[in-house]
Amino acid sequence: MIKRRLLIAGNWKMNPSIDDSVSLAGEIAAGMDSLKGVDVLLAPPFTALGVVREAIKDSGIFLSAQNMHWKTNGAFTGEISGAMLIETGCTHVIIGHSERRNLFHETNEMIDLKAKAASLLGLIPILCVGETLEQREGGHTFKVLKEQLDLSLNNYRSVGIMPPSTILAYEPVWAIGTGKTATPSQAQEVHRFIREWLETSFDSKTASQVRILYGGSVKPDNTADLMSQEDIDGALVGGASLKPDSFLQIIRFS
Ligand code: PGA
Repeated sequence: MIKRRLLIAGNWKMNPSIDDSVSLAGEIAAGMDSLKGVDVLLAPPFTALGVVREAIKDSGIFLSAQNMHWKTNGAFTGEISGAMLIETGCTHVIIGHSERRNLFHETNEMIDLKAKAASLLGLIPILCVGETLEQREGGHTFKVLKEQLDLSLNNYRSVGIMPPSTILAYEPVWAIGTGKTATPSQAQEVHRFIREWLETSFDSKTASQVRILYGGSVKPDNTADLMSQEDIDGALVGGASLKPDSFLQIIRFS
């Protein structure tokens, strides 16, 4: 069995200023000494990508954007392309976060175009899926997730190949920023489902290589239990990634 390396990713959303981003990134980079076996990634706001790139230089931390457009350039006022992200030093990009899906009406089809564009450019997508509370309580979790996966990874499915570096993130909408975390077994059940979907849609090698992160109220005190689950390969952390102490505790959970 291929052992997947854990990835702890901090999604700062629309929070820190440029100055705050520099100090946050600097403190996290300083805490990376002798860290083994865990990849770390930061996703600051677009405006702070350049300064964070400098602050994490030589630390081994990966730089990610929180969104991108699928076109390389053109008349798309207010948008940022994957090519621009690469130019800024990003290696990864979060795609299809539930806040993009729900607040900005991003569809699975748009997310699919973004995933395809990102991998053609050499950016690694961190593609998010997750059900709402209503969908979970209505017993529709797996149906909703299958539809999100089928449609937002349709380009990969149609060629039968998904780059094994692609990262998926299961983020139950009801657990994001609410303080309610999925229990480790609830999360594991969904991660297993996603891994089986990868096997059916692609092959067992892809399924064994692709990392699946959990996101939704990950905190220092629940990280170890979540990470002990077989199919959970890391965390996408929002609120707790804004405080260097708590993010460093999450990274060093073991
Ligand atoms: P949270 O956010 O950790 O604040 O719940 C997670 C996310 O939205 O990625």
